[in-house]
Amino acid sequence: MSSTIKDIDSGQTNDKLAVLIPGLGAVGTTLIAGVIAARKGLARPIGSLTQYAPIDDDPDAPRVCDALPIAAFDNIAFGGWDIFEENCFEAAREAGVLSDDDLAPLREELSAIEPMSAVFDPDFVRNIDGPNVKEASTKMELATALMDDIEGFQKEHHCSRAVAVWCGSTEVHVEMQKVHMSLEAFEAGLRDNHDAISPTMIYAYAHLKSGVPFINGAPNSAVDCPALIELAEKEGVCIAGKDFKTGQTLLKTVLAPGLSARLLGVSGWYSTNILGNRDGAVLDDPGSFKTKEQSKLSVLHSSLDAPRHPELYEDLTHKVRIDYYPPRGDNKEGWDNIDIFGWMDYPMQIKINFLCRDSILAAPVALDVALLADVAQQQGDSGVLDWLSFYFKSPQVSDGELPVHDLFVQRDMLFEKLRSWYTSEQQVEPTPQMAAGAE
Ligand SMILES: NC(=O)c1ccc[n+]([C@@H]2O[C@H](COP(=O)([O-])OP(=O)(O)OC[C@H]3O[C@@H](n4cnc5c(N)ncnc54)[C@H](O)[C@@H]3O)[C@@H](O)[C@H]2O)c1
Repeated sequence: MSSTIKDIDSGQTNDKLAVLIPGLGAVGTTLIAGVIAARKGLARPIGSLTQYAPIDDDPDAPRVCDALPIAAFDNIAFGGWDIFEENCFEAAREAGVLSDDDLAPLREELSAIEPMSAVFDPDFVRNIDGPNVKEASTKMELATALMDDIEGFQKEHHCSRAVAVWCGSTEVHVEMQKVHMSLEAFEAGLRDNHDAISPTMIYAYAHLKSGVPFINGAPNSAVDCPALIELAEKEGVCIAGKDFKTGQTLLKTVLAPGLSARLLGVSGWYSTNILGNRDGAVLDDPGSFKTKEQSKLSVLHSSLDAPRHPELYEDLTHKVRIDYYPPRGDNKEGWDNIDIFGWMDYPMQIKINFLCRDSILAAPVALDVALLADVAQQQGDSGVLDWLSFYFKSPQVSDGELPVHDLFVQRDMLFEKLRSWYTSEQQVEPTPQMAAGAE
């Protein structure tokens, strides 16, 4: 459990959790709006496992949020950074995910959250640019400025601890180089403005140096580079990623294990999306799309258990497309055509047309990973949180481990971890009488 520290000057209790979000766009503002609406009893946090799932199969089992020391909605302070100056009310209206009617009662709280100035580099995100950006002569100075922001936010909002979830735009793919391979090389790179150190990596470095868990919701590299894994381990801080598993990929990792369980063959899986929000505009750049494509392509092989059944899955053609199509806004449409084959090799087809809402699916994922990473940090965990794979398209795993993509196996991994904490919290300290009886 977190410590509760009294702030002598203000009389406030310093036991809040700061949820810090680099990138206050569609996902970030939808998350914040939903939590504020739930606090007011105006909306339900549907899709959030921490808020709805029981901790085990016992019919009387408490929900995860009641069984574990998970921050209550009233004890969360949201903050973040963006390259645009709009406060979260204006940014949420701009994102167009939530209706004006739903946003109106949240106006005061959302308007009070103003983005801190961002660390941004147009070489990494090419299709947008904004004015709310920090200036400094080195990347190390930018990291130091972020550390000041993190400390200042926690003080101002009476937070005893913090967790960060990257909800910023997808950056271009960065090949791992020497500068990413050790902490020493990375820190030298920060001082020398190495051009392969991305803004996400600078945010990640600043948070880890500040002892704050960092979770990557986008597909670009961040805490998965060896230098930052080394830093997380050295500082004893939790990390996880990457790329929230929300719409099309979520369904893929539900359906593929089912086909594989019935030993039906798959010869092709063609997935296409139309998307009209700012994320879609960023992904229209081939550099950012390549990062996303790699993440989306990675799931099928293991979800189908292909290595065990080469005769059914080895020749599979897997294609993923994303087209920027402004009229749809955040309401992405995904199509999947799946070519399967069965008894005596007879072919069949499955068509899926998912008319989803990207940020409505992503918000509960962002909430859960923030709350669970905070509990993990409180419980003394550190390094890569493999058991959070459930939430990611391209799960980051510990050295030597293979990522698991099957949603149901991922769910078992997650609950195994949550129950281990629950069971240890349930264990009763022996009373003096019990101890005497044992003698
Ligand atoms: N919505 C989903 O279902 C989903 C699923 C998986 C991953 N993602 C990823 O989550 C991220 C956010 O998605 P979104 O729909 O909210 O996009 P968005 O474009 O609405 O929001 C991203 C925000 O990040 C800001 N930004 C960009 N670079 C920044 C920087 N260096 N520092 C601070 N702010 C920065 C942008 O100005 C923008 O406001 C994207 O990378 C997206 O690919 C989204």
